[in-house]
Amino acid sequence: MNDSHRPIIWKNHELFLLDQRILPHKEEFIPVRNIDDCIQAIKDMVVRGAPCIGFTAIYGIALWVKQLTDLTVESARKAADAMIGARPTAVNLSYEANRCYEIIRIALKDGKSKEQIYDQLVEHGSCQIEESEEKNTVMAEIGIAELKKKYPSKKWNLMTHCNTGFLACGSLGTALGVISLAHRKGHVEHVYADETRPYLQGSRLTAFELGKENIPYSIVVEGAASYLLSHGKVDAIFVGADRIAANGDTANKVGTATLAIVAHHYRIPFYVVAPVSSFDITLAHGKEIEIEMREMNEITEFRGQRIAPVGAISVNPSFDVTDHQLITGIICERGLINPAVKGDLVRVVKS
Ligand code: MRU
Repeated sequence: MNDSHRPIIWKNHELFLLDQRILPHKEEFIPVRNIDDCIQAIKDMVVRGAPCIGFTAIYGIALWVKQLTDLTVESARKAADAMIGARPTAVNLSYEANRCYEIIRIALKDGKSKEQIYDQLVEHGSCQIEESEEKNTVMAEIGIAELKKKYPSKKWNLMTHCNTGFLACGSLGTALGVISLAHRKGHVEHVYADETRPYLQGSRLTAFELGKENIPYSIVVEGAASYLLSHGKVDAIFVGADRIAANGDTANKVGTATLAIVAHHYRIPFYVVAPVSSFDITLAHGKEIEIEMREMNEITEFRGQRIAPVGAISVNPSFDVTDHQLITGIICERGLINPAVKGDLVRVVKS
């Protein structure tokens, strides 16, 4: 895999992030020099997507350890919490920041030096990114096996929302990983990529990734879902997740729940694809998931140019929660979860 397929590069003790704000027309990496830069890059969505913001956080905390003079358990807790505060909905961020905190806490107790702790964190970051490739491949195979059962003798027309490819999840991707691998195996007829307003992850990033792999695709506005699904244009839908509660309710990019409702109406299989690190079984259901509210100008302006009347306001929830009853299956690296079966998700997490 070359560097243009990596949104996060760690080289010679330095962190570089592919600036996803200016894709697809410019591919530029920006240096992240310290933990504050890292937190800002996550807030500004230079790097985005639940798994990738988790990986980035690990390197941000490693940089913080390297640059500190006095490393303590208390200061480590504060650094992890500052990182977690960057974006609230994707659990991968707190999952990784808390794991870094634990690594530091145990290492300090064991009398390890700052240099050793730094090395350990860097090693942890690289391992997580490497392992994500294996996990994503396992999930993609499960998704393909599912569709082979449902549609054994035709090529598939698939739909996705937001961006869940390598830019968001490391190699291959999650929901987009199913689509990419299915395409490589010759199963895909066409892909519909939701534009994903207001940030346009679909038309900017998913289309960019589909194009890189020569996968036939069309960009559609979210409002076209009913048209497409009622006209038999879509065989199955695959989306990612930012946080999945114990009962299977799933927070994902705003618009996902609307799509799931339409899919349920037209009986189109609707799958969520996400690693176990996106699960949060401390939350009983989706109502407990904190939804990030972003700036109004993401809606009222386009790239700095005012669209809405001066003075118009907007409400900009960045995510919504899909009721588990609308989800056909949740695919993770440990298998396929049936959200209709009470306790199935918790069983898989604890397995
Ligand atoms: O706001 P973003 O772009 O960071 O959104 C997160 C996402 O990429 C999506 O919600 C995605 O579907 C789940 S994370 C792979």
